[in-house]
Amino acid sequence: MHSDQHASDLSGPAIPGLYTSHPADGFVRVRGARENNLRNVDVDVPRDAIVAFTGVSGSGKSSLAFGTIYAEAQRRYFESVAPYARRLIQQGHNPKVEMITGLPPAVALQQRRGTPSSRSTVGTVTTLSNSLRMLFSRAGSYPDGASQLDSDAFSPNTAAGACPECHGLGIAHTVTESSLVPDTSLSIRDGAIAAWPGAWQGKNLRDILTHLGHDVDTPWRKLPKRTATGSSSPRNSPSSR
Ligand SMILES: Nc1ncnc2c1ncn2[C@@H]1O[C@H](COP(=O)(O)OP(=O)(O)OP(=O)(O)O)[C@@H](O)[C@H]1O
Ligand SMILES: [Mg+2]
Ligand SMILES: [Zn+2]
Repeated sequence: MHSDQHASDLSGPAIPGLYTSHPADGFVRVRGARENNLRNVDVDVPRDAIVAFTGVSGSGKSSLAFGTIYAEAQRRYFESVAPYARRLIQQGHNPKVEMITGLPPAVALQQRRGTPSSRSTVGTVTTLSNSLRMLFSRAGSYPDGASQLDSDAFSPNTAAGACPECHGLGIAHTVTESSLVPDTSLSIRDGAIAAWPGAWQGKNLRDILTHLGHDVDTPWRKLPKRTATGSSSPRNSPSSR
């Protein structure tokens, strides 16, 4: 273990002894990889660089990147986590490899399945947010007398954790009278309601208003005081799981 002399290297092991890494070395060194069709592959992968594995389909790129390197990083991480927290981490398999050194904590981004929603974040795509939720839930400090919160309380994508105002989306779509009617000196015919449609549809709606007894030629602010406008609640409410 050389971690002592590199104590200031933030990419080194967070938990002493967890990763047998050689940060100054600058490489992830794989020895004797035998996952799937790999036949004792030795490879040195530079760290702090964008590295691409290329080769024909079926040559073993995924077996090396996901099946060996990432799987080993996950295996070491999994072993460091307390049993109660493991339920939130997808357990991988033990890769067939003799030795890997210089391995940092890793996240794997699989090829995207389906489309990301407005609830997708770096945290949800990598599942890192699961670990963070767990950390806050179990290791966070609570005010005296407060009971411990479930990890769901730390997710904006659960009914328990979502902000009641924006439902966890970060943006609340609300309407006010002034956003609907920016200039109250205008009449409905002159375009007081900003989103009023044009052409035939606009005329049709004006005719309906006139038929219902409303005055479309009086400035908005002089119209009889109407009841307050309601606000619509945003779509994509968090699932109540
Ligand atoms: N889970 C598995 N069990 C058994 N064999 C597998 C498994 N996954 C992959 N293989 C085999 O291992 C070999 C390498 O597959 P791998 O997916 O690593 O190739 P690849 O280079 O990533 O290919 P592609 O370019 O198509 O993604 C292939 O012969 C494949 O059939
Ligand atoms: Mg592949
Ligand atoms: Zn909010």
